[in-house]
Amino acid sequence: MTDSQKTFPLPSENSEIIEFLKQRRSNLAKVMGEPGPSEDELNQILQIAARVPDHRKLEPWRFVVFQGEARSRFGRHIASAFIRNNPEMPEDRAIFEGERLLRAPVVIAVISSPIECPRGTPQWEQELSAGAVCFNLCLAAQAHGFGAQWLTEWYGYDEAVNSALGVNGNERLAGYIYIGTPEVAATPRGRPNMSAKITQWTD
Ligand SMILES: Cc1cc2nc3c(=O)[nH]c(=O)nc-3n(C[C@H](O)[C@H](O)[C@H](O)COP(=O)(O)O)c2cc1C
Repeated sequence: MTDSQKTFPLPSENSEIIEFLKQRRSNLAKVMGEPGPSEDELNQILQIAARVPDHRKLEPWRFVVFQGEARSRFGRHIASAFIRNNPEMPEDRAIFEGERLLRAPVVIAVISSPIECPRGTPQWEQELSAGAVCFNLCLAAQAHGFGAQWLTEWYGYDEAVNSALGVNGNERLAGYIYIGTPEVAATPRGRPNMSAKITQWTD
């Protein structure tokens, strides 16, 4: 059977997924340790992350994976940018900044990479798709039994750091997704008052 002949099951209630989504919480990168996902798990997590709504199948995003020493090597760019931006700050603060990616065994930068679409998919929609990738990445990691947190922090907006990452043209850093094993359980966080968020449209 070819992929185009394949059909997926119709949606049916799945109480485990409902519970998972109802209780979803990020896990703090600062209390996230080893182990991280294996190569097989990571590949699967990335496959799922890329399975997002994407108007006209433009795939307007890409991933940069940091593992092992790459985290501290990239950290040197973060520390240098920090020193350049904050020359008055003590050296130990720059060391701290350079160790940011070491908080988790795997960090994935998601880069929004919109194209000029001749058929008219607005850039905004392409950027929304990149946001969906970030969140799907968190969900996929958590479904595999890991903790995940979507962070941008200051270095996500720093030009020199983005240049070291390879962000170019009209690309933008959508997020760094930290993935590892949570060292502490997440606690509840205030949630929106839904009655203030939802209205029924009337003319
Ligand atoms: C685009 C984006 C960037 C974020 N950047 C940060 C950040 O730099 N620092 C931070 O503490 N939380 C950041 N967050 C929030 C966390 O990812 C997370 O949502 C928050 O800790 C709340 O936890 P929850 O996801 O369990 O509600 C960001 C969220 C988004 C959507």
